[in-house]
Amino acid sequence: MKLAIGNDHVAIEMKLEIMQYLREKGMEIIDIGTNDPKRFHYPISGYKVGKMVANKEVDGGILICGTGVGISLAANKVKGVRACVCSEPYSAKLSRQHNNSNIIAFGARVIGIEMAKMIVDEWLAAEYEGGRHQIRIDMISEIEQAGSLRANDMG
Ligand code: RB5
Repeated sequence: MKLAIGNDHVAIEMKLEIMQYLREKGMEIIDIGTNDPKRFHYPISGYKVGKMVANKEVDGGILICGTGVGISLAANKVKGVRACVCSEPYSAKLSRQHNNSNIIAFGARVIGIEMAKMIVDEWLAAEYEGGRHQIRIDMISEIEQAGSLRANDMG
């Protein structure tokens, strides 16, 4: 499995620990930065990882900023990205199974490193279930592509 990982200036230490953790499990991790502790604008990393995921250069992405919020908002502006901020493993697992998330995000100021590892583990182990969820993913794509949603009363 090949993943891209990106962060801002407040999440360098957590990013490096997560990278090491995943590399020890045999995964290929592409670090798009930043590794410079001076102030860094998180949309840059969100966009870079988002593009790599959308272009299928990698199998998925991990984004970390202070809260995970800003960096995931940026990534979600790239067409085809479904980036989910999760602060616990249950949501991370369901974000794969139901929402077909292709990027997991979390906050270095919100959770500790052990929780971050559990979130990543659950997210990587889970698989998209398809089935009844696909119509909802298609609706999200329609909003993304068309800027509107035709069918808004479907069961
Ligand atoms: C940086 O101060 C902080 O705003 C950023 O890491 C992140 O939390 C934004 O969503």
